[in-house]
Amino acid sequence: MTDVPSGQRKPDPCSFVIFGASGDLTHRLVIPALYNLAATDLLPDKFCVVGIARKGMSNDALRDSLMKGLRQFATRPVDDAIAKRLLECVTSIEADPGEPASFDAMRERLEKLEADRSTGGNRLFYLATPPAAFTPISRQLGRTGLLKVENGAWRRLVIEKPFGTDLASAKALNGELLKILDEHQIYRIDHYLGKETVQNILVLRFANGMFEPIWNRNHIDHVQITVDEKLGVGHRGSFYDATGALRDMVPNHLFQLLSLVAMEPPIRFDAHSVRSEKADVLAAIQTQRETDALKNSVRGQYQGGKIGDTEIADYCKTADVKPGSTTETYAALKLTIDNWRWAGVPFYLRTGKALGLKRTEVAIKFKQAPFAMFSSTAVETLAENYLVIGVEPTEGIALQFNTKVPGPSIRIDGVEMKFLYKDYFKAEPATGYETLIYDCMIGDNILFQRADSVEAGWQAVQPFLDAWKKAGANGLERYKAGSAGPAGAEELLKRDGRSWRKLG
Ligand code: BG6
Repeated sequence: MTDVPSGQRKPDPCSFVIFGASGDLTHRLVIPALYNLAATDLLPDKFCVVGIARKGMSNDALRDSLMKGLRQFATRPVDDAIAKRLLECVTSIEADPGEPASFDAMRERLEKLEADRSTGGNRLFYLATPPAAFTPISRQLGRTGLLKVENGAWRRLVIEKPFGTDLASAKALNGELLKILDEHQIYRIDHYLGKETVQNILVLRFANGMFEPIWNRNHIDHVQITVDEKLGVGHRGSFYDATGALRDMVPNHLFQLLSLVAMEPPIRFDAHSVRSEKADVLAAIQTQRETDALKNSVRGQYQGGKIGDTEIADYCKTADVKPGSTTETYAALKLTIDNWRWAGVPFYLRTGKALGLKRTEVAIKFKQAPFAMFSSTAVETLAENYLVIGVEPTEGIALQFNTKVPGPSIRIDGVEMKFLYKDYFKAEPATGYETLIYDCMIGDNILFQRADSVEAGWQAVQPFLDAWKKAGANGLERYKAGSAGPAGAEELLKRDGRSWRKLG
């Protein structure tokens, strides 16, 4: 057996109850992540996994199905002994929020299992279900007392995205959950916070002496956040058409990146301090009037095209997408943060599907150096100074600056100093969920969204949602699959005398 990695403790004994056990998320991410934790000896010694599925499934059937998923989605070669040990912990129990009595029966079975496995009653409920099930399940968990903290045992609820579809629904869901749980028991997942490079933004900013003094409006011209994807909507037509790029990506993933880049230094590296600073900076994003929201945004929808060798059909011809749909598959926004650090520094955000490149990065653009000194030389321009935090596909950090081209006359060119994670650290490939699941089990919610941050995020995007809904097809640009996105996204920066950093 592998040793527990230094500095990491084993979680308390507990049961890990998954709603949606027969679903895609459980097979693709949750079980492979539990497997990776088992392989590094980071699961509790006394542990059970309960798979809740609506239609009753035998233990064997659930275990077989999870094993198949594991073989398909594991991020490392599967060691049969470890997989067997993990799957032996799995029990299938039926419960359906539409039939309250099934939750009472589930409680009985769970308590018996917990006694047999000596888990001490610590429980983590993981809602890996479609969002419509979040409230009915939580209500039943509340009614049956399954989430009640008692006899020194902890009770936690993990909830997947999307957390609401707008400000009102996010508030309503928070309201439901907070009726039955204290905030510290709720773990709202955003898988971007499971990415090492995203977590590293805090370390880059606050564990180094040289960045923080210049990390403000005196030195930074603007910030660009890009999450471009190559994939089209694929088989998720029905979900996506009701969601769109803005809801799907911005208040969650892009705002995680934004808040880590823009937050004030927390006084301590703990969940309360870090999450308070993140919530504060999101709350400082200026809420735009709808007319300004239209001016400060671009939305696009992809048309058929080719990405590499793959033909992508028109978005509107995707299965389960309404013909003539005006749902955006690309969104670009200009936001401002109204505080002392960032006043006057635009944050440009863009994200889209079916684009020519897959790229996730944050680019900090520093103010230009005065040019006067070079005006009497052959130098015509200075390259732009960027600090680029690469999240995908390149995990690393690059600093772009000007340097003298060797030779007798003064010539200047832009060069790049680059740190790549893979050059320094050997990390086993992972799902990105290991840290998140481990943190839920040890009770550390630093990487999870608090109610106020979620609501501040929706508050900032709500004017865009409202304005776009009213505008319908007006202003919705088309872009070719495999391109860089709609032309309007370039215009958004051009009219401010700026341009997006070239990707790739
Ligand atoms: C999900 C969105 O939350 O994030 C997807 O629903 C998107 O539409 C995905 O593709 C992007 O995640 P990543 O980790 O591939 O950038």
